[in-house]
Amino acid sequence: MKISRTSNSNSMWGGRFAGGPAAVMREINASIAIDKRLWREDIAASRAHAAMLGQQGILTSDDAAAIDTGLQQVAAEIADGKLVEDPALEDIHMHVEHRLGELIGPAAGRLHTARSRNDQVATDFKLWVRGAIDEALAGIDLLEAALLARAEQHAATVMPGFTHLQSGQPVTLGHHLMAYREMLVRDRSRFVHARARMNECPLGSAALAGTGFPIDRAATALALGFDRPTANSLDAVSDRDFAVDYLHSAALAAVHCSRLAEEIILWASQPFGFVRLPDAWSTGSSIMPNKRNPDAAELVRGHSARIIGDLVGMLVLLKGLPLAYAKDLQDDKPVVFDAHDLLSLSLAAMAGMIANLEFVPEKMRTAAAAGHATATDLADWLAREADVPFREAHHIAGRAVAAAEAAGKPLDDLTLAELQAVDPRITHDALPCLAVESSVASRTSAGGTAPVRVQEAIAAARSK
Ligand code: ARG
Repeated sequence: MKISRTSNSNSMWGGRFAGGPAAVMREINASIAIDKRLWREDIAASRAHAAMLGQQGILTSDDAAAIDTGLQQVAAEIADGKLVEDPALEDIHMHVEHRLGELIGPAAGRLHTARSRNDQVATDFKLWVRGAIDEALAGIDLLEAALLARAEQHAATVMPGFTHLQSGQPVTLGHHLMAYREMLVRDRSRFVHARARMNECPLGSAALAGTGFPIDRAATALALGFDRPTANSLDAVSDRDFAVDYLHSAALAAVHCSRLAEEIILWASQPFGFVRLPDAWSTGSSIMPNKRNPDAAELVRGHSARIIGDLVGMLVLLKGLPLAYAKDLQDDKPVVFDAHDLLSLSLAAMAGMIANLEFVPEKMRTAAAAGHATATDLADWLAREADVPFREAHHIAGRAVAAAEAAGKPLDDLTLAELQAVDPRITHDALPCLAVESSVASRTSAGGTAPVRVQEAIAAARSK
């Protein structure tokens, strides 16, 4: 194979090279198309670094000031969409520095004193992930608000509660929605802890060993909103645990969205009919005019698979890397950017769907009553009011279910005579507890499905 070479050696690092890289070398090396998303962070970190170099007398105050003004101009240009991508300049760090050189001349070459792209990219990427966490938290807040609002409307709406996707006991829709709110509370906590754990500044670790210049790492850390500088330069330039923490938090939040999406998909299906998706959240079919498809929910379910893949990809990327930086680490960004974009969309879509779903309480109530869902209530009544040991009470209630099935009607339609034929200890007082409303109302244990408990849970959530 003929290797086509580019002519000039690299202007940033090519001192020891006689010729340019192979065209494919240049192509595989360039990350600008992806890491341009770090431009804000790159400029912020460079400004903090230059200011510190000036403070420490490592740069003259004139040079530090020229660099700062120049970096602000570069930022304005990029914000205006004027970044000129050049694969020869590899990544966002060299693009910014190169443009700075065009704007302010040789002083730009002093910006890279006492730093390396290795500590630079670790710093930029951490700043970006920190911002992504803040966005995820905002998305979680919106979905939580939607869940709380709908749970409040439906604190007493009865629906079937399932185990094994078989009707188990009646529950309230409010309780069901609040279960997802609990998942979001844990998601929020995971993101908050990830943010706190990662908030140490790698800048000043330089290539891998630190630097001999009298830098002030505490100053740059503070300027960039970090709690402190990182403690070990080798770790700092090769650590991507923060990205893993982010991806893990994102993957689990996406799994929660996916589970809720799956419920919506089931509920919107004709056999369930528990919800109707409004037009704004449905799509049609190009062949079947009757269709109303829950595509957004299905895509949320699908996106969770991709976000899980992003997490796994990041872990596999790291597992074989010796200290310190290796170029494999350039592949840390696509997975994180992908997860961020997908999670933002997923949280927003879930919030929109939850806020706008039309619930169909009659369908839910009918389904809740089907499957003899109050059999446990009959057993509980026998144990509580007739002093029957629960195991025996369970057996009696089971025979009552068999009797209902033989009679071809639901348990709560059996007459007193029919129930007493099963066991004479069942009295008239037992009948009300067979209704789904009294079943849910009776589940008043802490964390239970009774409407009063659901209202309390909503109030507690709102007061947080
Ligand atoms: N573009 C690189 C990355 O994202 C920046 C660090 C490059 N460092 C190096 N020594 N080549 O990882």
